[in-house]
Amino acid sequence: MKILILGANGFIGNALVRELCNKKDITVYGLDLERDNLGHSIESPNFHFVEGDINISNEWIEYQIKKCDVIIPLVAIATPNVYVKDPLNIFQLDFEANLKIVKWVAKYNKRIIFPSTSEVYGMSSDVNFNEYSTNLVVGPVHKSRWIYSISKQLLDRVIIAHGEKGDLEYTLFRPFNWIGPNLDSLKQAQLGNGRVLTIFIHNLLYNKDIVLVNGGLQSRCFTYLDDGLSALIKIINDETGKLNGKIFNIGNPNNNNSIKELAEILLGEFETLQPNKYSGKVIHKTQKEFYGTGYEDIPVRVPDIQEAENLLDWKPVIDIKDAVVRTLRSYVDNFED
Ligand code: UGA
Repeated sequence: MKILILGANGFIGNALVRELCNKKDITVYGLDLERDNLGHSIESPNFHFVEGDINISNEWIEYQIKKCDVIIPLVAIATPNVYVKDPLNIFQLDFEANLKIVKWVAKYNKRIIFPSTSEVYGMSSDVNFNEYSTNLVVGPVHKSRWIYSISKQLLDRVIIAHGEKGDLEYTLFRPFNWIGPNLDSLKQAQLGNGRVLTIFIHNLLYNKDIVLVNGGLQSRCFTYLDDGLSALIKIINDETGKLNGKIFNIGNPNNNNSIKELAEILLGEFETLQPNKYSGKVIHKTQKEFYGTGYEDIPVRVPDIQEAENLLDWKPVIDIKDAVVRTLRSYVDNFED
């Protein structure tokens, strides 16, 4: 099987490349702006990497789509701070650049495995978010936090429309707060352009205060990367076509923790790893102080994972503590001040 991964150096991309390169009969073609996370696979005979920009490398990408069996476009900016500060960049990269890819996949009648997002459900009040029945609820247009959610939602809809027309085969997956090594770089986190766990880890390593936005009572279902990857591998391996037209929430409903709890777990684990090192404190800010007026939050976000349990025979197994420790360790081990 030939697989094209756009964004091969990213958080999910590099880990997926590593998994796939260890499998027989799989050849991976990868593109990314950078290669610093790909040391583990760059020399593998199963991996063909090109440094390039999804906005520029059009000929190469179209040629690979024509040649490959499965296309996995992982290029996107996925940090809320940027949704608020630079919404046009989100629209350009997350929507426009990816729309071009979807159109080529349809032109050559290929299979796309597309990363939708837990963010599409927005502020739904459903207890568990279901792929086929939950209404997608976002705020008013001046709240640019939702531009990512909406960009992904529209791509989901375009892909589904092409699928119904018979132009392509598709499976959508929706990661729910996956965490793990290389989630965001510490440099991104320093600029506030990381996700909450990497921002907190950055703050621990550099003795900065940890900020709980709006009291930190909002919760997320943190899902360890390895659990997510095992679902993704099962989706890729679908040889029968039974996953065509399906959508999967890939998240861990048992790890439904508030941001305050996340901070407490992290502080406890850091103290065990490096006793008496951290001299910062936990402080509070409102969402307006932290993100500005374009932000709205999601109070609770719990996936319904029955579809994944039934069709993929998949269940997440890594609990929150283990997930946080493994992620923290990966950053501490690679930290150079
Ligand atoms: C994330 C991002 O949109 C995407 O990475 C992704 O598609 C999706 O969720 C996902 O991974 O499922 P969100 O969970 O809101 O959205 O992003 P984080 O930046 O990780 O924030 C989580 C919570 O922590 C928010 O309530 C935020 O206000 C809070 N936060 C963030 C703090 O309390 N302190 C901080 O320093 C940073």
